[in-house]
Amino acid sequence: MQDQKDACSDFAAAPISSLRRQIDGLDDELLALINRRMVLAAEIGALKRKAGSRVLDTSREANVLRRLEKRNRGPLSRRELQRLFTEIMQLCRGVQGSAADGRREPDAGSCLYAVLGNPVRHSLSPQMHNRAFAHCGINAVYMAFCVTRIDKALDAARSLGIKGLSVTLPHKTAALSCMDRIDESAARVGALNTVVLRAGQLVGYNTDGTGAMRALQAAVAVEGRRAALIGAGGAARAIGYALTDAGAAVTIVNRSVSRGRGLARELGAQFCPRERFDGSGCQILINTTPVGMHPHEDAMPVDIRQLAPETVVMDIIYNPLKTALIRAAESRGCRTVSGLEMFVAQGAAQFELWTRQPAPEEIMRQAVVEALPAPESEERI
Ligand SMILES: NC(=O)c1ccc[n+]([C@@H]2O[C@H](COP(=O)([O-])OP(=O)(O)OC[C@H]3O[C@@H](n4cnc5c(N)ncnc54)[C@H](OP(=O)(O)O)[C@@H]3O)[C@@H](O)[C@H]2O)c1
Repeated sequence: MQDQKDACSDFAAAPISSLRRQIDGLDDELLALINRRMVLAAEIGALKRKAGSRVLDTSREANVLRRLEKRNRGPLSRRELQRLFTEIMQLCRGVQGSAADGRREPDAGSCLYAVLGNPVRHSLSPQMHNRAFAHCGINAVYMAFCVTRIDKALDAARSLGIKGLSVTLPHKTAALSCMDRIDESAARVGALNTVVLRAGQLVGYNTDGTGAMRALQAAVAVEGRRAALIGAGGAARAIGYALTDAGAAVTIVNRSVSRGRGLARELGAQFCPRERFDGSGCQILINTTPVGMHPHEDAMPVDIRQLAPETVVMDIIYNPLKTALIRAAESRGCRTVSGLEMFVAQGAAQFELWTRQPAPEEIMRQAVVEALPAPESEERI
């Protein structure tokens, strides 16, 4: 009986080990194929870097999956196929991204840059600046720090030898008193968004105004134009000064009358209460209030019923990219400038202050677009 059992198991063992050998062979082939796929993806990434084109192409990935689903004869199910190839594509996307932006591991010689704010989790500055450093072959890392005491954080930056900082809400004004020197761009606005550390000295700048002008002037010449500036907070002050410097005739439109009048007086501008504004008479309209920002995406900062189609409309909000104001302006036939353009331009100005070299603006824009949350309707694979 025992002999019979042994004979049976010997009989079964032979084909099993043959099948296992075949599986081992296939695994070797799969391993080589996956590695080859990653090498090809890295080559594509390097070519995209040269061409300055977008790395992440979700429609290409969706097409790959669709094509494979059509060719699949099973027993792999559709769901299993999707899981497996999504994983493989993610691996390839990783190497493609590294090859595309020339990313390198930080080492002991890496310079440190950072954004200080509270909160900072939503900040897209790390993606934007890290991509720019990598693209330019600069050995640097950009981090985000959520800080409550800006004075202590700036002391730490000084002793750690951090090279440059972005400063965001709520520290833009308080940071001024910690500077060794304040550039005029920050002094007159009464707020900074950029710090350059040179020989242990902290120098404060504000790039919001120049960033907004860089974005706006790409769409329209500002000189001699009538501009309605909605809001009277920090961003409005920076943009208001930049607009008047560029020769625009500015009208401040604000919810709080005293704050709005105060800024208008300072700029030598007009003031219009928010309730009286209907969009008439302006050639440029810029929203600097947070009204319309995610998750209140349908909120309008002002009434634009009388806005002329020739008016150029800019919203400095970039989440969502198309705010209710931008959508309404587009439907009236107006040219529009999104907050993304200002965000990238103020970041490019920061990069240039820190590194004293031209910023790779297109690469920075791509990094931000890729990092922005996808609109609800867009399917992401
Ligand atoms: N794209 C970029 O690069 C960039 C750069 C800087 C800032 N930003 C964005 O710009 C926005 C404003 O920043 P900030 O530093 O200027 O803020 P801020 O100093 O707090 O000023 C906010 C302004 O918006 C007005 N406002 C706020 N909530 C309102 C509401 N519900 N209805 C009507 N008006 C309202 C305020 O009016 P009152 O005076 O009546 O309170 C004030 O004039 C933020 O969303 C920020 O993220 C974008």
